[in-house]
Amino acid sequence: MTERSRVQGRAARALLGAGAALLAATAIPAQAAADELTLYTTREPALIQPLISAFSAQSNIKVNTVFVKDGLLERVKAEGARSPADVLMTVDIGNLMDLVDGGVTQPVKSAALESAIPANLRGADGQWFSLSLRARVLYADKNLPLTSFRYEDLANPKYKGKVCIRSGQHPYNTALVASLIAHDGEAKAEQWLRGVKANLARKATGGDRDVARDILGGICDVGLANSYYVGQMKSAKEGTDARKWGDAIKVVRPTFANAKSGGTHVNISGAAVAKNAPQRANAVKLLEFLVSEPAQALYAQTNYEYPVRKGVALDPIIGQTIGELKVDPLPLTEIAKYRKQASALVDKVGFDQ
Ligand SMILES: [Fe+2]
Repeated sequence: MTERSRVQGRAARALLGAGAALLAATAIPAQAAADELTLYTTREPALIQPLISAFSAQSNIKVNTVFVKDGLLERVKAEGARSPADVLMTVDIGNLMDLVDGGVTQPVKSAALESAIPANLRGADGQWFSLSLRARVLYADKNLPLTSFRYEDLANPKYKGKVCIRSGQHPYNTALVASLIAHDGEAKAEQWLRGVKANLARKATGGDRDVARDILGGICDVGLANSYYVGQMKSAKEGTDARKWGDAIKVVRPTFANAKSGGTHVNISGAAVAKNAPQRANAVKLLEFLVSEPAQALYAQTNYEYPVRKGVALDPIIGQTIGELKVDPLPLTEIAKYRKQASALVDKVGFDQ
């Protein structure tokens, strides 16, 4: 630091001190104080803006939202102790665990977070928290007489030439393969990947909505994709492609063959408090707000996601077409342990080739 900037810094601190004294003297309630926090998010700002606006309106805390499309971990690491980030928000358990493993998060103890979020959907040490859920569900031709499905069934030869799915290396699929490893062991997970690969109607590529598109197009009968796309497609304007795709499918919540629980694989959107958060208390307030009932209702209504908090109403389209979710009770941290192994298996069987 140069001499000049040191002087300027002192002057600024003096000014701040004077300001604080003025605030105290006029006894402005804490709520009215100009308060802020910085949110780094890989989620599209438009998607989370309604939540952020609701938080700011309620708390008087201004949120500086920084959209970090790629390289969130690298950026926060590079910024180090001077990082302005208070909250790190992302989707996919693997991405979230990368932040924890990368050492850019810090533990948080909060009764509000712990009571709202089931234990299998947050870090045992408060290093990360799920905020909303998305189920990896079966999209099927709406004329198929299917009412139940196990993930393992997708490898059954009776679906030869009938399966559509995106890249095996996409985080949505590696998380699912990781949970198959956790449930069935690595050898069976590999067998499953080979079976599904042999059943593919087309290359494993594209996006989740393309599964519905290709069911409508007669290319395939079944495929796995995320639940919220169903809400997006089925609520799209009449006559649009998206609406036609959505109307061509029905949805089944798959379970695992060997799990007595009958739960469905979920992935998450989630967040953590940054290790060097300058506004730690505000960061915790934002997380607590995001799992409150009104915020959880917004996740359901605006994004067609499943609330992480019990007792919050689903979006009606999700309620009617997919229904209440029974979440696989396996802790997400357990699933995340196998994500590198899952990715290696996808390569080993040449799933995307
Ligand atoms: Fe997605």
